Amino acid sequence: MSHQIAIDGPAGAGKSTIAKLVSGKLGFIYVDTGAMYRAMALYLSRMNVNPDNADEVGEKAQSAEITIKYVDGEQVVMLGDENVNGLIRSPEVSAMASRTSQVARLREKLVELQQKLAETENVVMDGRDIGTVVLPNADLKIYLTASVQVRAMRRYKEMIAKGQEAVLEEIEKDIEDRDYRDMHREASPLKQADDAVLVDTSDMSIEEVADKIIELYNN
Ligand code: C5P
Repeated sequence: MSHQIAIDGPAGAGKSTIAKLVSGKLGFIYVDTGAMYRAMALYLSRMNVNPDNADEVGEKAQSAEITIKYVDGEQVVMLGDENVNGLIRSPEVSAMASRTSQVARLREKLVELQQKLAETENVVMDGRDIGTVVLPNADLKIYLTASVQVRAMRRYKEMIAKGQEAVLEEIEKDIEDRDYRDMHREASPLKQADDAVLVDTSDMSIEEVADKIIELYNN
């Protein structure tokens, strides 16, 4: 049996930073499931699919050829034979992913891919439904969160550091909207699994959070 750590939580809670760090320390692979929903969203926008038409989203999603590979330990998301890592972080793709991820038929396809990866490899997997749906028997489940203000400020600083334009109020609003959609959808809504450990990172450093998760895993 492979080892599995599931990390769920709202947008901007630091899941990917923490998951990467923890996976590196444990020698597990890091699976960023949000990147798969983003690649799917990119595929659907290229096909001009209306994100509010659930039937069309579910139908067209079936023909997307999404695979994952690892290059120098980094997860690369492939759409057909195209590496789309550089194309899936835009605000447009974020918005499309947040909308299209509501559709159950689309989710089923990506969940299957995620479960296959975790069958053969030791994984730290992050997302919204990992502890509740994808890996219900994970060795450790973490629900990572922080206040909306803290999450928005972190994202703001990240964007400014990259030389991007950013408006704090807009980021906060975007985070709230995405959380609302994730928490209120019918298919696999974002919620803390009964057996998940809640970690509020508002007043913790990245290292402190990673150390806490490793300590929980080892005990
Ligand atoms: O985590 P990230 O922001 O990259 O995810 C992009 C979008 O994909 C989220 O806004 C969320 O709606 C969706 N998602 C999901 N289930 C997952 C991971 C991401 O619904 N396991």
